[in-house]
Amino acid sequence: MNIQQVDYNGLIPNNVDLGSDVRVKRALEKWHPGYINWWNDMGPDGFQESLVYLRTAVSVDPKGWAVFDYIRMPEYRWGILLAPAAEGRMVPFGAHKGEPAWQEVPGEYRAMLRRLIVIQGDTEPASVEQQRHLGKTAPSLYDMRNLFQVNVEEGRHLWAMVYLLHKYFGTDGRDEAEGLLQRRSGDADTPRMLGAFNEKTPDWLSFFMFTYFVDRDGKMQLEAQAQSGFDPLSRTCRFMLTEEAHHMFVGETGIGRTIQRSCEAMVRAGIDDPHNIEAVRKLGVIDLPTIQKKLNLHYSLALDLFGSEVSTNAANAFNSGLKGRFQEHRLQDDHQLKDDVYPVLKLIDGQIKRVEEPALTALNMRLRDDYTTDCSKGVARWNKIIEANGIKFALTLPHVAFHRHIGEFRDIAATPTGELLDKAAWEKSRDAWLPSVADGDFIAGLMQPVVERGKFASWIAPPKVGIDNKPGEFEYVKIA
Ligand SMILES: [Fe+2]
Ligand SMILES: [Fe+2]
Repeated sequence: MNIQQVDYNGLIPNNVDLGSDVRVKRALEKWHPGYINWWNDMGPDGFQESLVYLRTAVSVDPKGWAVFDYIRMPEYRWGILLAPAAEGRMVPFGAHKGEPAWQEVPGEYRAMLRRLIVIQGDTEPASVEQQRHLGKTAPSLYDMRNLFQVNVEEGRHLWAMVYLLHKYFGTDGRDEAEGLLQRRSGDADTPRMLGAFNEKTPDWLSFFMFTYFVDRDGKMQLEAQAQSGFDPLSRTCRFMLTEEAHHMFVGETGIGRTIQRSCEAMVRAGIDDPHNIEAVRKLGVIDLPTIQKKLNLHYSLALDLFGSEVSTNAANAFNSGLKGRFQEHRLQDDHQLKDDVYPVLKLIDGQIKRVEEPALTALNMRLRDDYTTDCSKGVARWNKIIEANGIKFALTLPHVAFHRHIGEFRDIAATPTGELLDKAAWEKSRDAWLPSVADGDFIAGLMQPVVERGKFASWIAPPKVGIDNKPGEFEYVKIA
């Protein structure tokens, strides 16, 4: 079959020739009703009957892979799509570097690989669960549509991981695929596997921060797994990255538009001092210091997703050829890291110090550093918006020791600039650094839905261009 074109004839669209793989096809068809039940229970609340202008992948050709059309979300064609195989691909790093890439699971790494896939898979439905109430307070039909696009694609990413589990992991894979439908974000007994995916996403600024910071962690993890010597995982992740780019676009432009509106309102009202929070809030926009606090929260939660700075699990996953580094193929070294070192921030004698660690065990730290570099680009663009409005304020990423729950800094209390405090002093200043209950209440108060075509809530500027080049008045969601 032609890998570029997706087969839409069966229940499960795919480009993996599911038609001639009876065992996996049956297994997935059996899993399908449970998935639809999950979507109906945990997917966007109140909009399952609405027609949404969504993109669906019809090809894996990077030049033209998607079509746009109105669709009811439960009828979305969630499919299994792998990027085309690279001919003669080798394991690109680790102890097996230079051996032909694996088309089957290497027995000795089976458990490790399964765990990587399950952890990735668990994040996908989790974010749908976290965002399920947001449709009701969407600031526009445009934004509502973007939310639902992200949601259906996270659903597809779950399918992507479930395919790997069913195809390559037999009975264990089937059990894991069931588990992915059983856990629930924030549930006391059966929570999702990672901390940030059990947090609430109570308002649209949180949603934009989430798609900017947490989906970007997803990007880094997918980039690292796209390098995998296990070829089906590599091909799966490569295609997921195409979709993921839109999620981060939603985050970056959503925050940018929020900032734009805040700045415009301040200029119009003649408010120079961005810290005059009360005056700014009276204008029906979100003040910049509160945006900074939201940023502090979501960035620090996202950093926790990278795990411990020094980690033998990370070393093992690399050595085995399962999980590489960000853009491994562009790096100029031996791709085995036998004698290399990498600088790691650690807590030594009560001080934060940079020390050299074996590069192999420091891979989480390295990926996290690459992530920080990636994050800072958007922050610079946001600051340009503030500057262009002539306001003296700059957003910054907080220090990596700030507000951490995992790794070196989990037991200390650091300020956003990285100074260490005692816990009581930190608690006293907490509300200056992280969103307070009052901040949350203020933002919640602004979250009034706007469902009139071409109209936007007071606190956010319209986008520069529409989705699929549609004009501003376009009815992105036909609410049922
Ligand atoms: Fe995803
Ligand atoms: Fe995503």
